[in-house]
Amino acid sequence: MKRILVTGAVGQIGSELTMALRERYGADNVVAAGNRTKPSDKLRDSGPFEFVDCTKIEKLQEVVKKYGVGTIYHLGAILSAVAEAKPQLAWDVNINGLYQVLEVAREQPCAVFTPSSIGAFGPTTPLDNTPQDTIQRPNTMYGVTKVAGELLCDYYHKRFGVDTRGLRYPGIISYETLPGGGTTDYAVEIYYKAIEENHYTCFLRAGTYLDMMYMPDALDAAVQLMEADPATLKHRNAFNVTAMSFEPEQIAAEIRKHFPSFTMDYNVDPVRQGIAETWPNKMDDTCARKEWGWNPKYNLKTMTQDMIEKLTLKLKGA
Ligand code: SER
Repeated sequence: MKRILVTGAVGQIGSELTMALRERYGADNVVAAGNRTKPSDKLRDSGPFEFVDCTKIEKLQEVVKKYGVGTIYHLGAILSAVAEAKPQLAWDVNINGLYQVLEVAREQPCAVFTPSSIGAFGPTTPLDNTPQDTIQRPNTMYGVTKVAGELLCDYYHKRFGVDTRGLRYPGIISYETLPGGGTTDYAVEIYYKAIEENHYTCFLRAGTYLDMMYMPDALDAAVQLMEADPATLKHRNAFNVTAMSFEPEQIAAEIRKHFPSFTMDYNVDPVRQGIAETWPNKMDDTCARKEWGWNPKYNLKTMTQDMIEKLTLKLKGA
């Protein structure tokens, strides 16, 4: 088979997606690519690993040719809070990186999966039951790069016939690798702090609703979309997908069912609060459900149970 390349393979989603793809398609068929961060032993030793800076096309071309890559899961990106601190870097990585990936995919050719995000929406978007096709005027650099990325992927499909596909991911919750500087990170941190300190200081305000998803569903969504019959896809590059919507008090209440004396207070970060307020409270993901059968397995209750179980073992070093 043609091999798969995962960029951003050392990141929160990439580290788990690489292992899931290796399990599904064979370890040697999935090349993990990181930029600077050292990979875990598990990632490096379970299959091919390369260092690739996606903004440099030569190395990308070399790796794609060397392994006979036919599909690229392009996960290398800068998240929202870091993008606000370093907007020039975010533009370079999120836009130029994607552009080089699409160029390589056009030449070779390769199919390309690119995640978009709830960050592709903005203050003028309807924030409740956010439709698939709606106003997208984000006021963050992250959002600007995500909207441009969606459009660029659509263009490469229409103009060059590249098989581009993508999802608008919500906040992704997982215990394997920490997220790298996003607005939804609180919903990951809270589990670590609940287990380690029985207390969490939340950087988003009570009542801030955001869409979220547990990692196993995020991985299934990517694979399912890439395996979908293209004839059924009308939207291709920016499917709304969500599994749950909650605000900080609700996740804290769920955690309290496991740790009854768990406490939470607030120290609101104005930057991330400002970002969160421009993002949907809850997206409508009907198109993903209809066009390729999206159907998440985890809700807040089942995710919390699994997170606490798995993270407790991890933090004990088991
Ligand atoms: N989790 C991302 C972030 O907070 C959203 O796509 O930046």
